[in-house]
Amino acid sequence: MGVVGNSESEGRNMASDSPLLLGTAQRIVGLYDGKLPVFNMFGEEGSTLYDNFSRNDRSEVPEFLRVGGPDPKQVLELCCGNGRTSLPLLEAGYELVGLDSSPHMLARLAARFEEPEWQPYADKMETVEGDMTFFSLDRQFDLVVLGTSTVWMLSADARTSLFKSVYEHLKDNGKFLLTLMHFPSLGSSPLELATPFIGQGTTGPALCTLYDHVDPSKRVRATSILAHHIEDGRISRSGMYATSMNLITPDELAAEIEQSGLTFVAQHEVERGQLVNQSAKTDPNTRHWVLLEAHRKPL
Ligand SMILES: C[S@@+](CC[C@H](N)C(=O)[O-])C[C@H]1O[C@@H](n2cnc3c(N)ncnc32)[C@H](O)[C@@H]1O
Repeated sequence: MGVVGNSESEGRNMASDSPLLLGTAQRIVGLYDGKLPVFNMFGEEGSTLYDNFSRNDRSEVPEFLRVGGPDPKQVLELCCGNGRTSLPLLEAGYELVGLDSSPHMLARLAARFEEPEWQPYADKMETVEGDMTFFSLDRQFDLVVLGTSTVWMLSADARTSLFKSVYEHLKDNGKFLLTLMHFPSLGSSPLELATPFIGQGTTGPALCTLYDHVDPSKRVRATSILAHHIEDGRISRSGMYATSMNLITPDELAAEIEQSGLTFVAQHEVERGQLVNQSAKTDPNTRHWVLLEAHRKPL
């Protein structure tokens, strides 16, 4: 595995009014009077919990395959993380370079390649620890994919840098596919979904609640997992595992993509599975998923 970028801080205690926490998660941290540790969702323990609830979700993969085509030769997956989308893409015949800034998420992916189901694909994917906003892989790809609204984790300047890097890493006529959540009829009031699940922490099982809080007026979304870790039949410790994002609409992103020199081609609908809470699935006017397709046209 090559190393070309930054890694993350793990286990830092953040104030309860940190921008990484909103709504119920923020209030819970307040109740603990600053004594509930707040961790990065993609750090060591958070990545294990993320992997628990997302690993069997194949959402976005059919659209990546349909729009990406049956056999692109060289594919770069940005923010591949635990391989949630990488593994089914490998199964479909793609060969991948996966880039992610979290060594912990890449460790989850490496662990998956130890599983009998995925062992045969281990030599079909190369992973790189790096930052999607600035990377230089010294090669160009037929296809670059970036899923799961991860583009929302970036500021406007960082997105400009991302799209420039993507442009430079695409061959002529290469495709860039970006998926994100879209709220076509979001009002101005905050919206929150809470999903309980039993996760597996690094030391044992954990009782978890995933809080997904969207604040349209602030144009932010905060996703936080409250986890109570169980050891010897009792809660041994608790923590909040958090990440936050900027809400950018598909139209805004399409305009930014055009400014980078890429040509915006189409917006496609995406069938999303279990990462989205059941109540959201039954209300497609409130949130649904889209795939943005852009090409690098020859000069
Ligand atoms: C929501 S997860 C997506 C993981 C996986 N692709 C999936 O679909 O489930 C976001 C991923 O983006 C990574 N990430 C966040 N910011 C990044 C950056 N600036 N550069 C590279 N990776 C980044 C995180 O480490 C994490 O693995």
